[in-house]
Amino acid sequence: MGAIKTLGILTSGGDCPGLNAVIRGVVQHAIEHFGCEVIGINEAQHGLLADPPRFQRLTLGLFEGELLRAGGTMLGATTQGDPWAYPDESGGTSDRSGDIIKAIRHLGVDAMVVIGGDGSMRIFDKLLTPSGIPWVGVPKTIDNDVPGTDFSVGFITAVDIVGSALDRLHTTATSHRRIMVLETMGRESGFLALYGGVAGGADAILMPELRYDITDLIAHIKRIRAKERAHILVVVAEGTPDPKGALIGMPYFGSNRALGGVGTVLADALAKGTGVSTRCTVLGHLQRGGTPAVFDRLLGSAMGVNAVDTLMKGETRKMSAWTGGHVTTVDMDVAITGPRVVDPHHEMLETARGLGIYVGTPRKTD
Ligand code: F6P
Repeated sequence: MGAIKTLGILTSGGDCPGLNAVIRGVVQHAIEHFGCEVIGINEAQHGLLADPPRFQRLTLGLFEGELLRAGGTMLGATTQGDPWAYPDESGGTSDRSGDIIKAIRHLGVDAMVVIGGDGSMRIFDKLLTPSGIPWVGVPKTIDNDVPGTDFSVGFITAVDIVGSALDRLHTTATSHRRIMVLETMGRESGFLALYGGVAGGADAILMPELRYDITDLIAHIKRIRAKERAHILVVVAEGTPDPKGALIGMPYFGSNRALGGVGTVLADALAKGTGVSTRCTVLGHLQRGGTPAVFDRLLGSAMGVNAVDTLMKGETRKMSAWTGGHVTTVDMDVAITGPRVVDPHHEMLETARGLGIYVGTPRKTD
């Protein structure tokens, strides 16, 4: 592997808070300590396939202002750039994977930092590894579903948003003695619902990993109302099946489904089953927006610096990770086995059970 003089960086997949902190970590460390040039690729695959490619030279001066504190990504991102089935002018798709590699070489990039979720890690592994371009990934997603790291950038901010939403829903729940249902994002993983629900004092947390029984949930709610108090908070992750076992959402690009809607169906079932006035709030993209929490800035900064150090040590096909309170690196083989889901014995699940929160039961195969 030759000396790395020019580093490329991009943000792939959905945005989340903390991405600019990662970019700052990479740019500051690469320029200050290694005298590198850093090229920021705009809108990931879209920017690389544009003619001419869209990019910007990233300099230290960029971070004088509010960027560290800003949500989203200064580079722009895309969730719709499958390089092997890229939309073309005829309305069909074509394989543009070779063009992406050509564009990276054309920009004079010696190594890449890819900030992305588990899907992006798989895409860039398939693209970059055979090309011989050294690369390191940095995990980001509010879903926290990237394997090999305890936390991905963006997750803790989203947990804070879910917790704060429950604080506000609690007000109406207590005033009107209602059941308030909050639907969170997370795709196939329940981390966001679980952590947010525990932090926000939920009485029940439903997630894709565990099976729930609507009759048991109604009994749980009735028990609390008979013994303790009239108001109830329920959190449901978007990827949780409805009470009849169906996944709710719309068909999407590729094999992905745009999830959402289970909260409304659940609220209806709870209202009918308990006779209590019930309302549903779908938190949606509010969970991805706004100022990153301090922890996500720390995580982003630590991982950005770690990614540069890893490349400068001559390593490739690694992902920066946060494990047991330390920043570290894991092999890309681990990162691409996602999505990571909540283990039935996960410590936060045990905490929820310990608090008397209804979480359902492990599925038969667990
Ligand atoms: O992966 C992050 C995420 O926010 C999921 O939780 C959610 O299902 C999905 O992205 C929404 O994607 P989009 O922004 O394309 O609607």
